[in-house]
Amino acid sequence: MLVPPSDFARPATSGGNVWASQWPVAGGPPENGILETLLDVSELLPIIAPGSESKLKIAQEPTPRVPPPSADSMVASVSIRDEHWTTPIHWTLIRTENQTQLISSVANLAAHYRTTIILNFVVMSLTLVLGILAFGQVRRSALLEAENRHQARVRELERQVLHTERLASVGRLAAGLAHEINNPLEGIGNYLSLLEEDLRDGRTDGCLDLTAGVREGLNRAAGITRQVLALSDPGRSPKTAVSVKAVVKETFDFVRSNPAFRHVRMELRVPDADLVILGNAITLGQVVLNLILNACEYQDQGGQVEVVLDREDAKARLRVSDRGPGIPEEALPRIFEPFFSTRGSTGLGLSLCHSIVSDHAGQVTAANRTDGRGAVFTVEIPLSEAAAGAAEPAAIKEKELTN
Ligand SMILES: Nc1ncnc2c1ncn2[C@@H]1O[C@H](COP(=O)(O)OP(=O)(O)OP(=O)(O)O)[C@@H](O)[C@H]1O
Ligand SMILES: [Mg+2]
Repeated sequence: MLVPPSDFARPATSGGNVWASQWPVAGGPPENGILETLLDVSELLPIIAPGSESKLKIAQEPTPRVPPPSADSMVASVSIRDEHWTTPIHWTLIRTENQTQLISSVANLAAHYRTTIILNFVVMSLTLVLGILAFGQVRRSALLEAENRHQARVRELERQVLHTERLASVGRLAAGLAHEINNPLEGIGNYLSLLEEDLRDGRTDGCLDLTAGVREGLNRAAGITRQVLALSDPGRSPKTAVSVKAVVKETFDFVRSNPAFRHVRMELRVPDADLVILGNAITLGQVVLNLILNACEYQDQGGQVEVVLDREDAKARLRVSDRGPGIPEEALPRIFEPFFSTRGSTGLGLSLCHSIVSDHAGQVTAANRTDGRGAVFTVEIPLSEAAAGAAEPAAIKEKELTN
């Protein structure tokens, strides 16, 4: 620790620094003579080189360092400050003898500078560390900003995907609706052609049956639109007791009387007892209609369709089989996918069947016949004992065309 002197006539020293009070700084550094006047060099010498007999000369810096006058002499720099600790004034003290002790004085000075250098180094290191920390912080902020931008982009993309999915489901719904209404409409068209034919030929016997076919087709189409409307308000379409037998028979008759399938040999086998499930007669009718239509349509020249309804444990089981080409092996895993068709059609029939049967807690499966050519579709839906004991189960024809 450096201590300023209290008495200018007796300069103090510490670590190789000599202090002089009331030093005339303003007028520039003093002449050698003034320094010698204020600082008694003979007193300074014992402080810097105690016990020395040598002489001490003082030269003012920044004049070039005075070379040692002889091989065994040394030059020492001393910092001299005024009492206010202002800019140090450097003087060079030159001694011509006793080299050993002078070296120790120079070492003290070096220690002082070393401390300053270490402090500077510490300050520089701290500055460097702070700089590195600041740089790291800036970098982190930049990364955070980039991450936020990325997150915003991902959210925007998710929103777009959701929007596209909504549009796609609206498209699927519209396509499904068109597909399902088209089935009864084709039937109605065929009944009307037959009716026209009969009327032209003056035959009236079967006219009422044909108009009944038209009415049933209209009921089916109306039921489907009602169903779609109910989808937007599920409360409007509660599940009721449905007679599977009645639905299957009506749908079978509806297809069989279609002149387009006049050459198809169609057979229906149902059990004596009714099979009642808890569900929806209209949508169940769509399932049966799609399966029987496929069976008829996938046989070029007439062919044969067998519809069998029976009970398997606590389930109603419906099997629709044909004698067509069967389902191509590679198509089997995909036939229930929406829009999958091997004949360039809409490919919606089976996917609708699948979702309706699932909605009835049942399952629909497809396979090729093992006893020859053709495909077999099997639908299983749990029976409802509670529903069977309730009111008269519904069938499609009983649904009036009211709205
Ligand atoms: N009885 C069947 N015999 C052979 N393949 C069938 C039969 N039923 C369905 N498939 C196969 O399943 C696919 C999907 O049937 P789905 O009823 O969903 O569509 P589609 O009949 O091709 O067209 P859409 O019914 O929409 O007019 C068919 O393209 C066909 O490959
Ligand atoms: Mg189909």
